[in-house]
Amino acid sequence: MKGIILSGGHGSRLLPLTRVTSKQLLPVYDKPMIMYPLRALLNAGIKDILIIVAPDHAGDYLKLLGSGKEFGARFAYEVQDKPEGLAQAFIIGEHFIENDSVCMILGDNIFEDDITESLNSFSGGAKIFVKEVPKEDRTRLGIVEFGKDNKVISIEEKPQIPKSPFAQTGIYIYDSQVVEAAKAQKPSARGELEITDLNNWYLAKDQLQAEILKGEWIDAGTFESLFRAAELARKKATFRGL
Ligand code: G1P
Repeated sequence: MKGIILSGGHGSRLLPLTRVTSKQLLPVYDKPMIMYPLRALLNAGIKDILIIVAPDHAGDYLKLLGSGKEFGARFAYEVQDKPEGLAQAFIIGEHFIENDSVCMILGDNIFEDDITESLNSFSGGAKIFVKEVPKEDRTRLGIVEFGKDNKVISIEEKPQIPKSPFAQTGIYIYDSQVVEAAKAQKPSARGELEITDLNNWYLAKDQLQAEILKGEWIDAGTFESLFRAAELARKKATFRGL
């Protein structure tokens, strides 16, 4: 299994912190944010990792992470010229993915759970990881509705009337169909190739599984969540992937 860390975007919700650097390079307690999702992949045994960055601070990522040798892994880099959606990562990463399965993690998402088991038991299709979130967050995330036997019924991106308290988090596992599936998507109203549409593509084929995370999850893209991530990292070694 290969890994992708998507670290694009302008980080405009964190201005002026992001005027001179990238959101995913900002400190979260004792290390730059991207090192948390990186550790999640490395801990799960993924050694071949594509890091997709925005053009502005691409050199800083190379300086921080290098070839991957230091981490016992191999890193490749690609540039996402514009923030045109999470699903675009699989078009950018087409040649990297080849015919393998791939686990994508967002560069601003921090997870406490160890995903090794989930990766090992992955047998094709797609797998998303969900977490119950407070009411006020439901309209800004992808919301997953469950039926009997934990079967996914629907996923809606930033719904006005959320059908469930469960959000899809920023880790996704796909089989090699993902490149074809990403290419089949059309940009949404916000001009992005949505990960939700990609996941609905798998859902329509009855090939989507969802797993509920037990540990903490933070999308560290706002002042509040960035602060909370640093607090959690300081308090809990497991949150730092240790
Ligand atoms: C993206 C996805 C959303 C998901 C979230 C997790 O949101 O579109 O479905 O719940 O990541 O962090 P965005 O950060 O693009 O608003």
